[in-house]
Amino acid sequence: MSQWIGTANQSYAPYAIEELRRLLPGASFVQLAAGEVFLMSCEQERAETLEAIHSKEPIFLRHIQPVDRVIEISGSAIDLEGLSEMIRHARLTFVDKRTAVHIRRSSKTTFHYSASDTKALLDAVLEELDAEPVVQQPEIIISIYAAETQLYVGFASPGDMLSDWPGGAVRFQREDGQVSRAKFKLLEAERAFGLNYADFKQALDVGAAPGGWTSLLLDRGLRVTAIDPADMHPSLLHHHALTHHKRNAADVKLVANTYDLLVCDMSWSPMLMSRLILDLQGALKPYATAIITIKLMHRKPLQTIREVQERLGTAFTILKAKQLFHNREEITLFLQKKQ
Ligand SMILES: C[S@@+](CC[C@H](N)C(=O)[O-])C[C@H]1O[C@@H](n2cnc3c(N)ncnc32)[C@H](O)[C@@H]1O
Repeated sequence: MSQWIGTANQSYAPYAIEELRRLLPGASFVQLAAGEVFLMSCEQERAETLEAIHSKEPIFLRHIQPVDRVIEISGSAIDLEGLSEMIRHARLTFVDKRTAVHIRRSSKTTFHYSASDTKALLDAVLEELDAEPVVQQPEIIISIYAAETQLYVGFASPGDMLSDWPGGAVRFQREDGQVSRAKFKLLEAERAFGLNYADFKQALDVGAAPGGWTSLLLDRGLRVTAIDPADMHPSLLHHHALTHHKRNAADVKLVANTYDLLVCDMSWSPMLMSRLILDLQGALKPYATAIITIKLMHRKPLQTIREVQERLGTAFTILKAKQLFHNREEITLFLQKKQ
């Protein structure tokens, strides 16, 4: 038997739960923050649960932490003492390890302390224990979720938690002159799928305007062909490595066997988008990589995703489907052209 705190993007927890029920029959669920954070109890022990989750990672599960300890919140300094004691007891788990402390508070929690104050205190405890408190690239994470009346605490590696960000909430700095917030989606996809865009040469960006994704790929040194009937941002207009076809993607003729990266963030129905991508596939080189967002359009998400995967699966290997933190009413697909 093991317990876990799962997190999905706002209002997508029911789909993460549906996926987990299929992987872990008999699991039970209690919502801790409506539509977003839930407690899962399952019959399987920790290792078996993790194996099931990693064998077919749920699309809508952004983050999962084991529950190793539950502390009743008293609403006073006793709570901080309880957390410190718990870490001292588990000393061997952290000694000589790069250890991050992640704290999330539900809006209804009776835990008084801010995440930063709690983290500062627990970092000091970790130093006492010869652990190395870090923010980036931890080997182990102490993850604390402050629910209404209880603190749920778990220790695990970033891989086991599916993210090295608290609750899987990936934050990027907004830059001056950034063309669009959409850029964060492509940045997050690069990390989530273990890619380096600089490894590619020629990108095709379908549904590219105003050009957040295009600008990122240009910055990484790629040549980009952007297709969109809408205008690209003025800052991109005269970029030497950019070609803009200002029209509907269905009306563009492209040179065959040219692109090693396809990105597509088109605001269109998933089925039409799939057909269009299949029509464009001749322009891609064999084994080209593709990053595509699927707009969920208020339809049954899991069914929509299955249908899109079936269609695109005729020409592409589906490497991963994931709702990233920066995806709103959509998910991101990571594909490789078959040949
Ligand atoms: C969400 S925006 C893309 C944002 C872009 N990724 C960025 O980083 O700035 C969706 C774009 O898809 C374009 N689009 C919708 N249908 C299209 C089609 N049939 N052909 C080409 N572009 C299309 C829209 O004009 C719109 O600019």
